Amino acid sequence: MTRQLRYDEKVVIVTGAGNGLGRAHALAFSRLGARLLVNDLGVSANGAGASSSAADSVVAEIKALGGQAVANYDSVVEGEKIVASALDAFGTVDVLVNNAGILSDVSFQKMTADQWDAILRVHLTGSFRVTRAAWPVMRAKGYGRVIMTSSGAGIYGNFGQANYSAAKLGLYGFAKSLAIEGQSKGIYVNTIAPIAASRLTENVLPAELMGSLKPEYVTSLVTWLCHQDCVETSGLFEVGAGYVSKLRWERSRGHTFNVRRGMGPEDIQAQWSKITDFEQAEHPSSINDTFSVLLETVKSRRLGGNEFIDLDQATAAETIVPSSYDRRDLAVYALGIGAARDPLDASDLRFVYERAVDFAALPSYAVMPSSNAMLALIKEGKPLLKGLSYGLERVLHGEQYTEIRAPLPLGAEVTNCFRLKAAYDKDPHAVLVFSVVTTDQDGQDLAYNEIAAFVRGAGGWGGERGPSGDINVPPERDPDAIIEEKTDLNQALLYRLSGDWNPMHVDPAFASQFGFPRPILHGLCTYGYVARHVIKTFCDNDPGFFKSIRVRFAESVFPGETLVTRMWRESERRIVLEVRVKERDKVVIRNAAVGLFERALVHTRSQYK
Ligand code: NAI
Repeated sequence: MTRQLRYDEKVVIVTGAGNGLGRAHALAFSRLGARLLVNDLGVSANGAGASSSAADSVVAEIKALGGQAVANYDSVVEGEKIVASALDAFGTVDVLVNNAGILSDVSFQKMTADQWDAILRVHLTGSFRVTRAAWPVMRAKGYGRVIMTSSGAGIYGNFGQANYSAAKLGLYGFAKSLAIEGQSKGIYVNTIAPIAASRLTENVLPAELMGSLKPEYVTSLVTWLCHQDCVETSGLFEVGAGYVSKLRWERSRGHTFNVRRGMGPEDIQAQWSKITDFEQAEHPSSINDTFSVLLETVKSRRLGGNEFIDLDQATAAETIVPSSYDRRDLAVYALGIGAARDPLDASDLRFVYERAVDFAALPSYAVMPSSNAMLALIKEGKPLLKGLSYGLERVLHGEQYTEIRAPLPLGAEVTNCFRLKAAYDKDPHAVLVFSVVTTDQDGQDLAYNEIAAFVRGAGGWGGERGPSGDINVPPERDPDAIIEEKTDLNQALLYRLSGDWNPMHVDPAFASQFGFPRPILHGLCTYGYVARHVIKTFCDNDPGFFKSIRVRFAESVFPGETLVTRMWRESERRIVLEVRVKERDKVVIRNAAVGLFERALVHTRSQYK
């Protein structure tokens, strides 16, 4: 035989125990050995009047069966008195069944504020008042079982019961929070939504059903939930006619919007079927389940983009492109950026004559492997990174930064790893900043480059506008050094042999399509001139001191024009500079600076192999 779930020594308070469900609960607890505080105000079904007879008759029944019980006639609204009665009679409280209730149906249209208040007062405030008085007793002893009596009307709504429904579902929320707070103190709190024949339901439920809805069927669930063996807490149960089931929340998988692209009611409408689809639904059971899904949403937030730029793809992407160079490439590059124009000046021979004992790469060559790798991709019609799909005709080279990570070998097979470092939405245009790390075959990083590309018409996805304001602004004082150097008319033709095949720099017809009277000089050619001017002026022509260079390209230069590089030594290792074209007095490079190493990098022997 199964062991009986006994309540010997336990003290149980049942409110509204003079009739219906409360009476059934009280009798059952008593039969199982509990000592009972039988509370009932003795009102009519709608709360009118008051009488001690309801509680007294149940106490008499219990006593007649040999049980222990005391009566209490207070309203649950004065819950402290009910708990005080239990403590007076038995010294403690183990179980509290909040059951007392009234009903007074009226359509919402006709409901008065008093009717609203009366229902909320008895059900919600009443349960609060009794529970609050019992709570410290239970906490102190580390044990307690509490029942809230809710209703299907609260869970599902019911005509004429707006006040009652609000109170009844309120009890469920109340219970859930108490379950959390009581857990560590051994206090378990559950909620029932019963259906039983009683005076409350005699005019609501069909008469033929009443006989099958014995309150005792509900009581069995209550006497299980309140037993010390039961560790259920926070639950909600539908119970009646011998049927018992547990309810839980269900949440559709929902839909996550790309808020950066805006989220209006039309977007909600478009996704409505998804939002309300319970296929693959989840069953959240704590508030953390809400926070975690929100956190996930924020973490996985799409960065957005448009038809030219898919930022989510591009940000996650990486493109690795091999490239190589040799001594001849270094010499051709040096000539392309105007080195050794005077063959009688021996100081530049080290950059163009591979048999010179101190033959070395001009450090600005560190931009070339990555720049050539990028051009190779474009030539093959491939995007620089997955997710980018704009044509070259939209792109202007806005800024360039190059940093030397190791002395450039005199020839190398390298890999160039491209990533998107930042994307700025200058609506309607975009600025994309790519980082490129160039690494040799031994895994040694040789150079780090940043390329800021201005992409015409590719903005407007609602992203950050990016930093504004100028950096590397020249001081008011006169420059510490000025180098003036005329480029050759065929400078671009010479420079392009280093790899930049863009017809803009060679084909007059092509250049005129873009509004230029003739082919323009490569921005990176002017960049090389700048680097050379700094090395000559501040490094005694020793490329080993050159650490980094950052420039903003402001205007195009035409081959044959004279570059005037104005340089300010702002600190031991930082030169700020600006380049103008003499003939047009236009600034072509601005916000520029070169960083120097304290001690020159020295090539190791192996790099001369
Ligand atoms: P009932 O009317 O038979 O019993 C309720 C008892 O509560 C009465 O004896 C009444 O005097 C007492 N009471 C009313 N106001 C009180 C107050 N302020 N202080 C102390 N006692 C007070 O009703 P029934 O059906 O047994 O209902 C018990 C609980 O179950 C109620 O909370 C009710 O809302 C709830 N319920 C009942 C359903 C059913 O099918 N019977 C359905 C859903 C919920």
